[in-house]
Amino acid sequence: MVVVASLTVGGALHGGVAASDPDDEIRARLKPFGDVCRVGQDCGGLEGGAGAGVSAPAVAAAATGLSGQQIYDQFCFACHNTGVGEAPLFGSLEQWQPFIDQGMPQMLAVSLTGRGLMPPKGTCVTCSEDEMQAAIQYMVDSAQ
Ligand code: HEC
Repeated sequence: MVVVASLTVGGALHGGVAASDPDDEIRARLKPFGDVCRVGQDCGGLEGGAGAGVSAPAVAAAATGLSGQQIYDQFCFACHNTGVGEAPLFGSLEQWQPFIDQGMPQMLAVSLTGRGLMPPKGTCVTCSEDEMQAAIQYMVDSAQ
């Protein structure tokens, strides 16, 4: 999918310039991006951790396949378990209530874009929106 997009853009930029050997032309265009790890390629372990073992289509759609709790344990725990940077503390209804009152759409929106010391997607860059919501729901359900 990524490759196709690159080719389309390359073609548009070079519009009108006829290539005698299209294959060579394409290879030359892709060369500057040679270091990019593309979907479906062996990325030499770059995708370790949560991304490991995820099939190409899943990566393209940005999803980890993890449950809300697993995402929390891997990505959100570091801050929300300690309250660093005033992150609402895991398990504390007192600290979560103001956010719960705002509603899930608002919490989801903030956590997708980030705010203050809360990084976009809580550092789970391959999480889908649904997975982010599941992780938030897990924290909300655990607050008492
Ligand atoms: C680097 C630290 C850090 C990590 C990692 C982190 N958070 Fe946060 N989070 C924060 C901080 C700090 C706030 C308070 C932000 C503010 O309002 O100033 C916050 C706030 C939130 C809020 C409330 C947003 C609102 O204002 O409605 C939600 C929901 C949330 N985090 C979810 C998550 C989820 C889900 C993850 C893991 C996928 C995560 N966070 C990972 C630091 C972090």
